[in-house]
Amino acid sequence: MARITASVFTSHVPAIGAALDLGKTAEPYWQPLFAGYEKSKQWIRDNPPDVVFLVFNDHATAFSLDMIPTFAIGCAAEFPVADEGWGPRPVPKVTGHPELAAHIAQSVIQQDFDLTLVNKMDVDHGLTVPLSLMYGQPAAWPCPVIPFHTNVVQYPVPSGRRCLALGQAIRRAVESFDQDLKVQIWGTGGMSHQLQGPRAGLINKEFDNAFLDRLIADPKAQAAVPHIDYVREAGSEGIELVMWLIARGAMGDLAGGPPPRLAHRFYHVPASNTAVGHLILEEQT
Ligand code: DHB
Ligand code: FE
Repeated sequence: MARITASVFTSHVPAIGAALDLGKTAEPYWQPLFAGYEKSKQWIRDNPPDVVFLVFNDHATAFSLDMIPTFAIGCAAEFPVADEGWGPRPVPKVTGHPELAAHIAQSVIQQDFDLTLVNKMDVDHGLTVPLSLMYGQPAAWPCPVIPFHTNVVQYPVPSGRRCLALGQAIRRAVESFDQDLKVQIWGTGGMSHQLQGPRAGLINKEFDNAFLDRLIADPKAQAAVPHIDYVREAGSEGIELVMWLIARGAMGDLAGGPPPRLAHRFYHVPASNTAVGHLILEEQT
């Protein structure tokens, strides 16, 4: 049986990827940010998953404003790294897990979540920056990744409640897969940031840290927070945080098990124009 072993949460700011790719991680501006992920890199060496189920949002890269699925699961064997305007990042291509992805699609759709099936997709910074933060700069990513896109780019976006319930459905799907696989589920995006308009540059440390507290200890209460509160308090792009509830919903306490163990928590402002948050939660066995 496959099982969820941990959830990982992190912001996915593109400038972080550029800092890594251009060899700037030791510069004074970036050093404190990357220092916060040193523990995470050791942790994932000690706790390697067989597959990462990576919840992210496409930023009008693979999908354009012509067509935007609310939830979409990547079922392909591989996912090329997207060109977001500066050429593709110099990172390995992403290898998928078509068998597990197809199984999760089958199970989750039968649990009444209408997923879009994606058989071809270039993946943008939303997916590659979290991989870089956790794994550094390997010649190949150490395990297959199932990309899972959530629309937080064009309204209406899904509610926190639906995201949490979707995570619960994903857990059931993983647990009904007939192979012994350790699966980590990652939630990415956020924290507070607004990239355009009069409020560009908005950061809200109090909101972000209250979100982290509640995501850890009371995810159901966090899931009840309406999307407009994220936008008001955390900026127009702060709504990306709703994706973290998908990963949180897949943890065992929401299926009647013990609460997860907090392995790491990190918060740093600023990275480019964004607050960076990061959590690692382990399943208690
Ligand atoms: C930026 C883009 C993002 O997708 C994000 O999550 C944070 C910051 C940016 O362009 O700066
Ligand atoms: Fe983003």
